[in-house]
Amino acid sequence: MRVLAIESSCDESAVAVLDDARGLLAHVLHSQIDEHRLYGGVVPELASRDHVRRLVPLVRAALAQANSTRADISGVAFTAGPGLIGALLTGAALARSLAYAWGVPAVNVHHLEGHLLAPMLEPEPPAFPHVALLVSGGHTMLVEVRAIGDYRLLGETRDDAAGEAFDKTAKLLGLPYPGGPELARLAQDGRAGAYDFPRPMLDRPGLEFSFSGLKTAVSLAVKDPGFDPARRPDVARGVEDAIVATLVAKAMRALEATGLDALVVAGGVGANRALRGALTAATARRGARVHFPRLEFCTDNAAMIAVAGLARLAAGEHVDLAIEARAQWPLESLAAPRPDPKES
Ligand code: KG4
Ligand code: ZN
Repeated sequence: MRVLAIESSCDESAVAVLDDARGLLAHVLHSQIDEHRLYGGVVPELASRDHVRRLVPLVRAALAQANSTRADISGVAFTAGPGLIGALLTGAALARSLAYAWGVPAVNVHHLEGHLLAPMLEPEPPAFPHVALLVSGGHTMLVEVRAIGDYRLLGETRDDAAGEAFDKTAKLLGLPYPGGPELARLAQDGRAGAYDFPRPMLDRPGLEFSFSGLKTAVSLAVKDPGFDPARRPDVARGVEDAIVATLVAKAMRALEATGLDALVVAGGVGANRALRGALTAATARRGARVHFPRLEFCTDNAAMIAVAGLARLAAGEHVDLAIEARAQWPLESLAAPRPDPKES
């Protein structure tokens, strides 16, 4: 079975081809970062328009890279949500139309399920059950992953996502969008402990997160009339350390609470090197294992959508001809792959 997958939920247009026997055959992507940078964030209408321009050439490029023709494709998977509704609809309409034209089934994929399953693309994929720390621009959650489609939410953020906290504080430091990687770069020149920003919710039990206080603390620091701009790297380091410490502590708490010994890290913030290093050390101390997707599969891509799509298509799951996308879609509403979702 060979699946072509399309991702268009936010500001990356991406297409991948995954074969159940031969693995990942193609993975191509166009990032819209340059387009949105001017506005300091993603402009939904611009995102949709650019997906319309990029997706068909990306499908052609992915087929060529996979050395495949449409006759080799046995199903089409697409991100149906959650995300920007206009952006999602461009991918959903194209995927559904291609499947119709090619006479193969189409299957809708939950974007976060894609992130959760990205580590399956690595040579040593994690076993089930495990705990996943899902940290992206829109979400921060700890999930008990019992099997594909069987997800139990252990805790999530009450306000900003970790990626959002990176992006917003980066903006306060005058860094361009998207701020996460830029702030991480600046933090390399900063001194640990020069700024002691709040580590929210660490003093309380539970697996919830809250990052909005961090933004306020940084705002107070950098808007102080006596603030020396030469200390920007110290601020960046303080922010990164506070976010990383919080994520690591809660992830360890989640392993403790579930009694599981494997942690998977997923989502764009999973690309952060300080986080990867701290999680590697903390899991090693517990005798637990940690799995990271390679950097290019942490941020949005279609390979991860292909993994989820292939599992669902292989089980006979598919959507009918209506083109559906959802801006909101709770992860816990998913079920294990099954033949006809409408009938159960
Ligand atoms: O998963 P993703 O690509 O898109 C969403 O589904 O949100 O995550 C994007 C987020 C952004 O907030 C970005 O700043 C953050 O991931 N990010 C990072 C790093 N690379 C991406 N944050 C910190 N350090 C990084 N190296
Ligand atoms: Zn994402």
